[in-house]
Amino acid sequence: MIIEELVILCIQKITTLLFSIAKWASSPDAGQLMAMLLKLLNAKKTIEVGVFTGCLLLLTALSIPDDGKIIAIDDNREAYEIGLLVIQKAGVQHKIDFIESQALPVLDKLLEDHENEGSFDFAFVDADKETYINYHERLMKVLKVGGVVVCDNTLRRGMVALPESAVPEGRKQDRQLILVLKFHTFHWVMGSRSAGV
Ligand SMILES: C[S@@+](CC[C@H](N)C(=O)[O-])C[C@H]1O[C@@H](n2cnc3c(N)ncnc32)[C@H](O)[C@@H]1O
Repeated sequence: MIIEELVILCIQKITTLLFSIAKWASSPDAGQLMAMLLKLLNAKKTIEVGVFTGCLLLLTALSIPDDGKIIAIDDNREAYEIGLLVIQKAGVQHKIDFIESQALPVLDKLLEDHENEGSFDFAFVDADKETYINYHERLMKVLKVGGVVVCDNTLRRGMVALPESAVPEGRKQDRQLILVLKFHTFHWVMGSRSAGV
């Protein structure tokens, strides 16, 4: 775990030096939680939507077995290439299939091949919040039974738990999007239970 923390810190430092939006990079403690989940699941086939400089992508690559695979999607290759230098040093680049694209069409393309249905162990979503619900719909189809999807930023600094009147005007739409996602997830899980999922 110490090595994983160090490499993430390494990417974070580089990100801070090079990008004004360095806060996008995920933190080591979020990474530790994800590493634990990946190991508990024994995850081998994973997908990440929203890579940026690859903090958690690297962590995923370090947490899955040598023949594991990650489909990593981001519409900005420039940021990925910064982290790629550390990923290469860590010797895990061979596990990563980076796709520079808007994420939704890539997920739709994956679903055109029926072999991808129910085949992924783990998915991580950390991209544009307004599309989370569309990602979620597709990811539910590619994940296997017992697979896990982790979505970043779903607490919105605690705002999802506040009454709407207490949420600043500029944050209301953002909070609403996450609440709809949670509602959707709840209904999906309840609906699937009857199907034995
Ligand atoms: C918060 S950052 C991801 C941080 C990253 N998961 C990490 O571990 O540090 C969000 C990323 O999502 C990407 N993104 C946003 N909207 C996207 C979209 N529609 N399709 C693909 N990538 C998108 C951005 O380019 C950005 O790199």
